[in-house]
Amino acid sequence: MQTIYNKSQHRFYSRYFVIFTIIIFFVSVVSSCLFNQEKTEKDIVIQRADNSLVGSGACKNCHADIYKIFLLTSHKSTSKPASKDNIMGSFEEGKNNYAYNYFDGVVMRDLDSGFYQVSYINRAFVQAYRFDMVIGSGTRGQTYLYWKNNQLFQLPISYYTQADSWSNSPGYSDYIANFGRSINSACLGCHSSYVDILSNHIQQAQQFDKDRIVFGVNCEKCHGAGGNHVDHFTLHPGATRENFIVNANNLSQHQQLDACAICHSSSSADFKPALDFETGDTLIHNTSKTNLQAKVDVHGNQYGLLAESACFINASMMTCTTCHNPHEEQSGNVSLFSQKCMQCHSVEKNNFCTLSEKVGIATLQENCIDCHMPKKESQILNVKLNKEHENSPAVIRSHLIAVYPETPIKISQIYVRERS
Ligand code: HEC
Ligand code: HEC
Ligand code: HEC
Ligand code: HEC
Ligand code: HEC
Ligand code: HEC
Ligand code: HEC
Repeated sequence: MQTIYNKSQHRFYSRYFVIFTIIIFFVSVVSSCLFNQEKTEKDIVIQRADNSLVGSGACKNCHADIYKIFLLTSHKSTSKPASKDNIMGSFEEGKNNYAYNYFDGVVMRDLDSGFYQVSYINRAFVQAYRFDMVIGSGTRGQTYLYWKNNQLFQLPISYYTQADSWSNSPGYSDYIANFGRSINSACLGCHSSYVDILSNHIQQAQQFDKDRIVFGVNCEKCHGAGGNHVDHFTLHPGATRENFIVNANNLSQHQQLDACAICHSSSSADFKPALDFETGDTLIHNTSKTNLQAKVDVHGNQYGLLAESACFINASMMTCTTCHNPHEEQSGNVSLFSQKCMQCHSVEKNNFCTLSEKVGIATLQENCIDCHMPKKESQILNVKLNKEHENSPAVIRSHLIAVYPETPIKISQIYVRERS
């Protein structure tokens, strides 16, 4: 017998279907809100010969405190998939245009299939590429990449935080949108924790496996693969002796410094790629003093500058973690950093700030930083903004700890005046 199509039944089913769909939609929205963390943290497992990368989500249960504060660091969010939440620039009409001149420019569009940079010449559409990946937590800015097959390319328009505005990507033409700059693994070596390189021809852009990128600088980038460690403590919760993981604290000063210097010696340092580096490896540093300041750009050379400082040279064992907690976002907390200075410089030790003979100690204690590690304008990162294309240099904290003749705080001017 042939089934006769029953209209009322269909209406019933379709109404049922609509309600069902709405419920499913809400359930999935609510659960994706609740479990968002889980979703982004379901890292891929990368098998290595004798150990495997398990992702920072795997550390959460046993190191909850560290994990929680780590989520807020700029290391964690220095690379991520493109999404409305992750892209800092605006797609709102009126704020979504970067104009080279009256006729040519790039418009940022929020479409059903994703977010796009759409270029136009003479007000006519030329080409459009999607935001696929975000590089930069946004402290200073963000730059965006798109996929073409398995290759990555940079988009011509970036975001510049200081001005809360779209800007020309550093080093790009002032006249025309260039979508052809390919991105190699060096970028990802410093801005992510792992990427699978599929092909490595010298003459072509490198090819990557899109599904095997570990975003952010995560636990295992600094501590090495954690598979064996997790297995070990899951099986033997009370164990104490072996722990199968790297703790930089147990390494030499050189090793500890290089675990940070691999990414913090400016991007032009000629090291081996950060992707192949594991904590415990060492680097050969070739710091020539004349190069130091020149290299201060968005990619600061904190290692090189620190290494030239009297503190570093004369203290017995200074490393980056003398002042920085690698798990915590501490930026802007100058009083906390000043405490670190005073662990070595105090009135009792007779090596406190000599300015204290003129200015009250209490005033000085609040902020050693702005006088002795001043913010310097970058020579290289001087991006072009939308409005009249004015230049807007980025500022970066100098790690050359020293006495600067022009300290930015008023009391020093008073002091200088008093002296002369
Ligand atoms: C099943 C629980 C468990 C998980 C999961 C776990 N750890 Fe641990 N971890 C421990 C315990 C317990 C210790 C303390 C060992 C000790 O006191 O020697 C420890 C210690 C450490 C140390 C210090 C080692 C030392 O020598 O001082 C580091 C670093 C570390 N874990 C990193 C990680 C990372 C990274 C992850 C995720 C990849 C992770 N842990 C996942 C239980 C765990
Ligand atoms: C794999 C590369 C890599 C390693 C290793 C690395 N960093 Fe970073 N670090 C970065 C990148 C990239 C940023 C910029 C993140 C951003 O804002 O997008 C950064 C940012 C920072 C910041 C600035 C935080 C802020 O909010 O302004 C500090 C401080 C820092 N790193 C300290 C360290 C220390 C200390 C170590 C060693 C224990 C270290 N880093 C190891 C890549 C690395
Ligand atoms: C040698 C490591 C290294 C390489 C290679 C590198 N970066 Fe960076 N990048 C950093 C570090 C470290 C910072 C943080 C700024 C600083 O030095 O204080 C940073 C900062 C940035 C920022 C600003 C982030 C923010 O939140 O303010 C952007 C954008 C950026 N890099 C993009 C790129 C791109 C695109 C490439 C490849 C063409 C690249 N970087 C290559 C290490 C690197
Ligand atoms: C930028 C590099 C870096 C990242 C990222 C990082 N760590 Fe660490 N971690 C260090 C260094 C350096 C030390 C030793 C110095 C210190 O304790 O400050 C350390 C120490 C530790 C210790 C032992 C000391 C303690 O404080 O208990 C544990 C456990 C640990 N890390 C777990 C983690 C976990 C879990 C994550 C990810 C959620 C993580 N780390 C991410 C660099 C890093
Ligand atoms: C680990 C110990 C240590 C820490 C931390 C430290 N210093 Fe020093 N600093 C020294 C030593 C040692 C010298 C050499 C002179 C001396 O013996 O007093 C020095 C020298 C200096 C000088 C003289 C610079 C010159 O060129 O002659 C200044 C200024 C200074 N420190 C400021 C600071 C500030 C500001 C901080 C915090 C951001 C700091 N120090 C953190 C140990 C340290
Ligand atoms: C003597 C203390 C001290 C030491 C040692 C030190 N830093 Fe810093 N670092 C600071 C202070 C202070 C700031 C500024 C914090 C702020 O303004 O929020 C800073 C800022 C930074 C930033 C952010 C840059 C910026 O312009 O905002 C990075 C990245 C960084 N440090 C990396 C490192 C690395 C890598 C090392 C080791 C080679 C290191 N630091 C050693 C004190 C130190
Ligand atoms: C208002 C700016 C300012 C502040 C804040 C400040 N200093 Fe100084 N500091 C100076 C100046 C300027 C000198 C050089 C004074 C002189 O001519 O003797 C100096 C000298 C020093 C010296 C001796 C340098 C040498 O040549 O031997 C040390 C060490 C030092 N400061 C450490 C600190 C520490 C630590 C703090 C925070 C507790 C601090 N300073 C806060 C401006 C400042």
